[in-house]
Amino acid sequence: MQNDLTHQIDFLYSSALGPSPKVETKGNKIYHLDVFEFLNEKVKDNSVDLAVIDPPYNMKKAQWDTFKSHDDFLDFTFSWIEKLLPKLKASSSLYIFNTPFNSSYILQFLIEQKMIFRNWIVWDKQDGISAPKNKFVNGAETILFFIKGKPVFNFNDVREPYKSTDRMEHASKKGILKNGKRWYPNPDGRLCSEVWNFSSERHKRKINGKVQKMPHLTPKPIDMIERIIKASSNEGDLILDCFMGSGTTAIASKNLNRDFIGCEKNKDYYNLCLDRVLTCRPA
Ligand SMILES: C[S@@+](CC[C@H](N)C(=O)[O-])C[C@H]1O[C@@H](n2cnc3c(N)ncnc32)[C@H](O)[C@@H]1O
Repeated sequence: MQNDLTHQIDFLYSSALGPSPKVETKGNKIYHLDVFEFLNEKVKDNSVDLAVIDPPYNMKKAQWDTFKSHDDFLDFTFSWIEKLLPKLKASSSLYIFNTPFNSSYILQFLIEQKMIFRNWIVWDKQDGISAPKNKFVNGAETILFFIKGKPVFNFNDVREPYKSTDRMEHASKKGILKNGKRWYPNPDGRLCSEVWNFSSERHKRKINGKVQKMPHLTPKPIDMIERIIKASSNEGDLILDCFMGSGTTAIASKNLNRDFIGCEKNKDYYNLCLDRVLTCRPA
């Protein structure tokens, strides 16, 4: 098994470095391409059930995340969104990560494109990034959740533990009287709220409080991406991510028996992504 896998990785690495910029694993595809070439040439219209998009934020932490101006950043962002929307099925879901500030512009644009707003999800990263003295600490990112049509939403698959365990233990025995009826807690937990608590990978990997260098600058926590995929798709559905980075969306899709398609422009990240998809290693 290990030999087969190693052989597969060697093959994929050599094909990644060779003339073909494409990797296919059992019908799933990851391309070493720019987002526009990918969306123009590789994805069929009306084919995607769920798009999970973690694009550049213009935070200037790397060359790929640096734009000349906020307007340039918005031009780029709105252009890839315009190309992406026709790829979504008539009933489908779209999640886009960004800073709260940038998300306010993206939200407005999506509404203009006639997408239907569902949630402004606040991801509390549980990781102090900066220590400003003139405002509150930026500890959260936004995940915009929009839909087209009437897509699946598997609310039962993303329940989370109740907060007040004592009260719930009591309620599970005797119930709680609500509007004249006895309510009993769901054994799988409460409905998932739009405030999400997942430690960032950067924070999880600190050693003695010191930030460690990671193969990718900004890998997303896989359990968070799995929550999105469980909620907004079913087994066998097609998930698209056009900024794959270290491949978290592809691995989460694979773990949950969904198909995936995506691209990554940076060669090192593309190779990292292939390696992770085939071995399911942490980024
Ligand atoms: C925020 S990261 C994605 C991280 C990913 N979610 C993960 O968990 O590893 C954005 C990625 O987009 C890639 N990227 C930036 N501009 C791109 C473009 N024009 N086309 C395709 N990929 C691009 C960057 O190289 C980077 O890896």
